[in-house]
Amino acid sequence: MKKKKIAFDLLIFDTLSDLSQNDQKLLKDAITARSDAYAPYSNFKVGAAVLLENGEVVIGNNQENASYPSGLCAERVAVFQAGARYPGVPITAIAISTLPSLKVDAIPAAPCGNCRQSIVEYEQRQQSPISLIMGSEKGPIYKCSSMGDILPLVFDGSFLNDS
Ligand code: THU
Repeated sequence: MKKKKIAFDLLIFDTLSDLSQNDQKLLKDAITARSDAYAPYSNFKVGAAVLLENGEVVIGNNQENASYPSGLCAERVAVFQAGARYPGVPITAIAISTLPSLKVDAIPAAPCGNCRQSIVEYEQRQQSPISLIMGSEKGPIYKCSSMGDILPLVFDGSFLNDS
């Protein structure tokens, strides 16, 4: 039996002003995008902002539906929009903003499993990492350097037979 430890570096910043200028701007774009979320069922608004290698920023926010599974998370709204509007342009970073929950003391929410899977597909297509910034206007901000960091043992196209 072998044992393999899988670890990654999570950077924790105390406040938004501790981030680099670029990351601050991207997180502010995600905060702004959050206010336009359509989340009447969960009342949990999420904003996302994607930075592309060409400098463009594409935003997204969660879009809910009376038929709950028909809605979509902020991250995928943003990333799919980026893929549609700027095909082939690599994504360098994504910032995600939620409001701190009353139950979980000031911990930024991380992307759901479906969003991780979707965004890792973009990392693999472009063969470069997408850094991830998670936070809000206040409280700590988390950053990691690749979406793959938070989706170890990923399932990807390499497992599928060639068709
Ligand atoms: N949501 C996101 O937008 N991103 C995530 O990563 C987690 C969840 C949304 C989906 C739904 O509209 C609401 O938050 C509650 O789950």
